[in-house]
Amino acid sequence: MTHFPTIIQGGMGTGVSSWRLAHAVSELGQLGVVSGTALDQILARRLQDGDAGGHMRRALDHFPVSAMAERVWQAYFIPGGKADTDPYKSVPMPVRESPRELLELTVVANFVEVWLAREGHANPVGINYLEKIQVPHLPSLYGALLAGVGYVIVGAGIPLKIPEALDRLARHEPATYPLNVIGAQEGDETALTFDPSQFIGADPPPLVRPRFLAIVASNVLAASLVKKIKSGLDGFVIEGPTAGGHNAPPRGKMQVDAGGVVVYGERDRVDLEKIRELGLPFWLAGGYGSAEKLREALAQGAAGIQVGTAFAFCAESGLRPDYKRAIIEQVVNGDARVFTDPVASPTNFPFKVARLEGTVSEEGTYLARPRICDLGFLRDAYRTDDGAIGYRCSAEPVNLYVKKGGKPAETVGRKCICNALLATIGQPQRRKGKIEEKGIVTSGDDLVEIGRFVRPDRLEYRAADVLAILLGEALPQPHASGTAAAT
Ligand SMILES: Cc1cc2nc3c(=O)[nH]c(=O)nc-3n(C[C@H](O)[C@H](O)[C@H](O)COP(=O)(O)O)c2cc1C
Repeated sequence: MTHFPTIIQGGMGTGVSSWRLAHAVSELGQLGVVSGTALDQILARRLQDGDAGGHMRRALDHFPVSAMAERVWQAYFIPGGKADTDPYKSVPMPVRESPRELLELTVVANFVEVWLAREGHANPVGINYLEKIQVPHLPSLYGALLAGVGYVIVGAGIPLKIPEALDRLARHEPATYPLNVIGAQEGDETALTFDPSQFIGADPPPLVRPRFLAIVASNVLAASLVKKIKSGLDGFVIEGPTAGGHNAPPRGKMQVDAGGVVVYGERDRVDLEKIRELGLPFWLAGGYGSAEKLREALAQGAAGIQVGTAFAFCAESGLRPDYKRAIIEQVVNGDARVFTDPVASPTNFPFKVARLEGTVSEEGTYLARPRICDLGFLRDAYRTDDGAIGYRCSAEPVNLYVKKGGKPAETVGRKCICNALLATIGQPQRRKGKIEEKGIVTSGDDLVEIGRFVRPDRLEYRAADVLAILLGEALPQPHASGTAAAT
């Protein structure tokens, strides 16, 4: 019988569900999931911060093509770490035909994250991507496959073409992925392509094709994926609008209440009877972080639950310790507030933001930041007048966005969540030695409930505490095998 996890620790980008968190969860027998978003930047910055503990070096030493790992190391590693006031070196922004330097960094970074999460135990580890961030998909998937990823879990879009890409990349065959280009015309070259043979050499290691789960928020999308994906769709995460991170937009016209918060209605409720009829395992997400909700999910025929918020603030998550502590303090004092912002994210998806002083959740901090776009993960590709592909982001300087054909109204309230999310995991860019990027904390509405994991004597808890409470039983013992991880 196929074995599935009861609890999936949801992928949390960028870098919140880092290898440490996924390792802690998988080692205890549930499914730890690393975020696959922006791993190229994250690895480059960890190396520039001096690779404390030598974890990056250890993983790089297991990458199957040592010359490639070495090039990444040489390009970014700074012994002892860069000075706090120095900026991080820039990494090329993702574009359809990205330079080899970026492709190598992306493959290696995805490998490193999964390899570290798998190190020293024999349980599966997953990786999460946002479909919307399409350009890095193929090199990212390949890097994760090389490290032996067990599950690929994709949300924020329609991941129709991921299964086929996984099939091909697992056989080291060239793969393509359609890039959404606004205004594209018949005959335009828009596909993303990736050929493993240009990276892995003549004797590639055998790879196992991971399971693929799609994150959906509607019956329509679930049914259409089952119909269109002929093979290699292994299940669903059904995510409701209380979940942290990006949420699916409400069905119909986007409505906001008097406080500017996105309103969801009856039409956004997923009919689980219809999901059951599709015949694939599913996990429920969004406010399911308790033993009672787990029991409820199992009673409704789910294989289990996916939980994010409860893990986002535990000791092993990648969130900056000062932000973590401040939010836990808010929760304990009854002051925590989460807001579903309809415009913050340039993706156009509603984005959940926790209120926290000193982050761009505050209007003043947001407005004080000069608009700069230098990471570019959330840029839309569009067809330029001369038929080429251009890239624009509604959070970039307004004049540039409009010059590229964007509408001024689309820029209102947009936040550079690329820079903010990296600042949130302690990798803030510094400009001209003084301006430091400020963070943004995303969380589910369940934030107010995390107080139950905190012990009265210290404002801290671990992933194991979350699992123990969710499972309502004694913690399973870590697997003592010490089995070597990937390669
Ligand atoms: C900090 C944070 C970041 C998240 N980032 C992502 C992400 O990058 N990709 C994704 O598919 N889901 C993301 N999520 C959603 C979680 O994977 C999970 O589905 C959700 O949090 C479950 O609801 P809960 O927060 O009520 O437990 C994020 C959630 C949080 C709290």
